[in-house]
Amino acid sequence: MDAAALLDRLASLLDPGGVLRGDDEAALVRYCRDWSGDHVGRPLAVIRPGSTEQVAESVRLCFESGVPVVPQGGNTGLVAGGIPTEDGREVVLSLERMNRIRTIDAASFSIVAEAGCILADLHQAAEAVDCALPLSLGAQGSCQIGGNVSTNAGGVNVLRYGMTRDLVLGLEVVLPGGRIWHGLRRLRKDNTGYDLRQLFIGAEGTLGVITAVALKLFPRPTELHTAIVGVDSVAAALDLYARARTGLSDLLSAFELIPRACFDLVLADRPDWQEPFARPTPVTVLMEASASGLVDVGGPFARFLEDRIEAGQVLDGTLAQSRAQAAAFWRWREEVVEAQHRRGRHLRTDISVPIAALADFIAAADGAMAAIVPSVRAIAYGHVGDGNIHYNVLPPAGLPLPEAVALLAHCEELLFTLVDRFDGSISAEHGIGRLKRSHFLQRLTPVEASLMRTIKSGIDPAGLMNPGRILS
Ligand code: FAD
Ligand code: LAC
Ligand code: ZN
Repeated sequence: MDAAALLDRLASLLDPGGVLRGDDEAALVRYCRDWSGDHVGRPLAVIRPGSTEQVAESVRLCFESGVPVVPQGGNTGLVAGGIPTEDGREVVLSLERMNRIRTIDAASFSIVAEAGCILADLHQAAEAVDCALPLSLGAQGSCQIGGNVSTNAGGVNVLRYGMTRDLVLGLEVVLPGGRIWHGLRRLRKDNTGYDLRQLFIGAEGTLGVITAVALKLFPRPTELHTAIVGVDSVAAALDLYARARTGLSDLLSAFELIPRACFDLVLADRPDWQEPFARPTPVTVLMEASASGLVDVGGPFARFLEDRIEAGQVLDGTLAQSRAQAAAFWRWREEVVEAQHRRGRHLRTDISVPIAALADFIAAADGAMAAIVPSVRAIAYGHVGDGNIHYNVLPPAGLPLPEAVALLAHCEELLFTLVDRFDGSISAEHGIGRLKRSHFLQRLTPVEASLMRTIKSGIDPAGLMNPGRILS
């Protein structure tokens, strides 16, 4: 079947609007351009099936025609894994029409949702039955649960609830070629054979199309306390984290680092925003503690902070007095991402190192960046409680794009070499996609490379499921 015949078959299979052809640029642009705006592709077509059976049949037809399939969720991924290449050969399979919640079961603390459900909608659905889905990230208003599972997304609650991987109970997946794996179990315990679901979590669409997900829910926190505190260094922030982890135990649900450079970046665009403290501190930490039911959070949280102020570790701090004030604190954190976005091309990383080594890593990285070009602007913020920071680099303003791209590639190379030296990971959250593939492949041991290629070729022998992402 040639491409035109394939598109006709897909059009007759799917509902009206189910196939957007490659020549319809206006309709296609949002499927082809990633959130960063740095990468744009050109597909053969975008297809939008509305059911698992339609996904399966679409994949079968594409595979029969030798056409690669690129699963796409909310298109908020940051490694160009879900947008098509520029050669016009790939079919983008968008899950956006598969957005039904199939079941929600408060008594079993579980929800079964189709892959195209927007994460924020699942938060609301969980809250409506007095539960919580504790996966929280800046893109939650547009990313989809299928994308979250496929990238094994992290976010700000990992230190308490784990990564997406830890929240998944079961999956339904359309495999390369079009068979369906019905693995939507909702069991807490199941030791029967290999854990297939874990293969698809974090596979970035290279092993199949996730069409539905069964997830754990948790009791909805009835007490949620948020504080913004200032300390004098990253090392002090890490010491504060260690004490909070011990002192507050599992009440601690978020611990995010926002250094001074991030405030400067945000304030340059938002001069009217009121800074949290009268006297700025070198480093700021956003902390949250929460629990449900009879557990007291406010008392221990306030005592912990008073103790740290008395010890001179916390230089200044404010406990949010309302949800609105807490949201205003979190807006600083979200705006750090937006402020970088507005400055155009920059280096985004999501590295991790052992928590205790983080301050030394940042100091070493700052030294390495300053040695390249003193005017590059490096900022390191994020999920310190997980040993995971976004060490990002903004090129000097006004540098022509090709030179900026070359400079950032050099910075990335140096940073990743440092990551190796600190026994870290080049990607703790965003995954490999197409952008980090060569760095990833260079670091695989022969045993790892052989196991990974065996898994890929065993499940996708034709190599048509999101090819060129993760592996070559
Ligand atoms: P997409 O971008 O559409 O796809 C991502 C990858 O998954 C692609 O390889 C795609 O092929 C594959 N895929 C998508 N859906 C499916 C499916 N149904 N079946 C099989 N494969 C599929 N990430 C974090 O981990 N933590 C954060 O804190 C975080 N914050 C962010 C903040 C902002 C402002 C932005 C823009 C991004 C952020 N991200 C974060 C990255 C991104 O939001 C996550 O990776 C998210 O999980 C991607 O979901 P998506 O639906 O947008 O997936
Ligand atoms: C964050 C994203 C970029 O944590 O991962 O802001
Ligand atoms: Zn992050």
